[in-house]
Amino acid sequence: MTQAVEKEAGKAQKPLLAALAGVKATRPPFWFMRQAGRYLPEYRELRKTAGSFLDLCYAPKLAAEVTVQPLRRFGMDAAILFSDILVVPHALGQEVAFQEGKGPVLGALDIPALGVETLHDIAAPVYETVRQTRALLANDLELDDQALIGFAGAPWTVASYMVEGGSSREFMTLRAMMYQNPEKLDSLIAVLTEATTDYLSRQIEAGAEAVQIFDSWAGILPEEMFEKYVIAPTAEIVAVLRSQYPTVPIIGFPKGAGLLYKNYAEQTGVTALGLDFTLPLDWAAKELQTICPVQGCLDPALLLAGGDVMLDAAKRVLDAFSDGAFIFNLGHGINKETKPETVAQLSDFLKGQR
Ligand code: CP3
Repeated sequence: MTQAVEKEAGKAQKPLLAALAGVKATRPPFWFMRQAGRYLPEYRELRKTAGSFLDLCYAPKLAAEVTVQPLRRFGMDAAILFSDILVVPHALGQEVAFQEGKGPVLGALDIPALGVETLHDIAAPVYETVRQTRALLANDLELDDQALIGFAGAPWTVASYMVEGGSSREFMTLRAMMYQNPEKLDSLIAVLTEATTDYLSRQIEAGAEAVQIFDSWAGILPEEMFEKYVIAPTAEIVAVLRSQYPTVPIIGFPKGAGLLYKNYAEQTGVTALGLDFTLPLDWAAKELQTICPVQGCLDPALLLAGGDVMLDAAKRVLDAFSDGAFIFNLGHGINKETKPETVAQLSDFLKGQR
């Protein structure tokens, strides 16, 4: 047996997985959304050699390396697969490009032409990245307690990019479609629900130990539409994955859902909730953490300030959720202007909790 295998054999559950199983820890596990990426010099360096951003997402060896970069530097308790939520529309056949300074730009949407058949051929390198990352973590004695999280965008959020053709401020094309042409939007959501389920299940097969469903734009919907386009598709994905992989935890992140977080927690069946940074902490502890483990939710803008302002806020988050199972995270992704030193400061603080 190698040392790593020996350690694995006699070992308790990884801290992230224990928290997702409902275990309360004196030192909560932590990771940060968008922890890999442009704020890290080693990412920018590697990115130069990879061609386009999508090329990097489809280059398993490089993507696996990028996935573990932040762990080597900061020692988070989890790695999140390096990829993007827009790999799914791309693998379904819509044109997707990431333009410097502009963000994603998507080609014309032709729903009947979207091919669930081509999905796994095109996304195969992503599954290979999961395999290689698991191997990197398992073979490194410093990283073998770290769990690997796979992910996908939720159908609603991915549909928003597909319909709008990119990022949007008001999502008017999408929101108009919801009322004027519901059959069209429903057919897109149905394709995405099936594709997302398959895509996540392949990541789990390849070695993802938990998965997160990013619903970044869940917060723009009125209640009735939230039920239809956020809760229902997510519940469907969760039900299928749960039947196939009963022990693999699923984290749902319905950013901006406010009071509707509670309906989401009760009705989707997710294992844990990713909280955004706008929720009142005491409300979330009382109303959500009593339903399931929660993850969150420091305002990522605090990492631009750093120092005591950031650490005091981090402490308030830890205190608020100290009565139950908790994973420390940010309430949205790290901003690209964040200094690595500030991430180190926050990570050291979190590792020092007892
Ligand atoms: O470290 C990680 O969290 C893993 C990798 C990851 C990326 N995107 C890499 C990325 C994850 C989990 C995502 C999720 C994602 N992508 C979301 C959901 C989370 C959120 O932020 O709300 C969304 C909405 C996207 C779509 C997306 N991807 C946009 C709008 C952009 C452009 C804006 C930007 O930040 O540049 C991207 C590009 C992207 N995804 C980059 C990275 C590292 C930057 C591209 C580059 O390196 O040039």
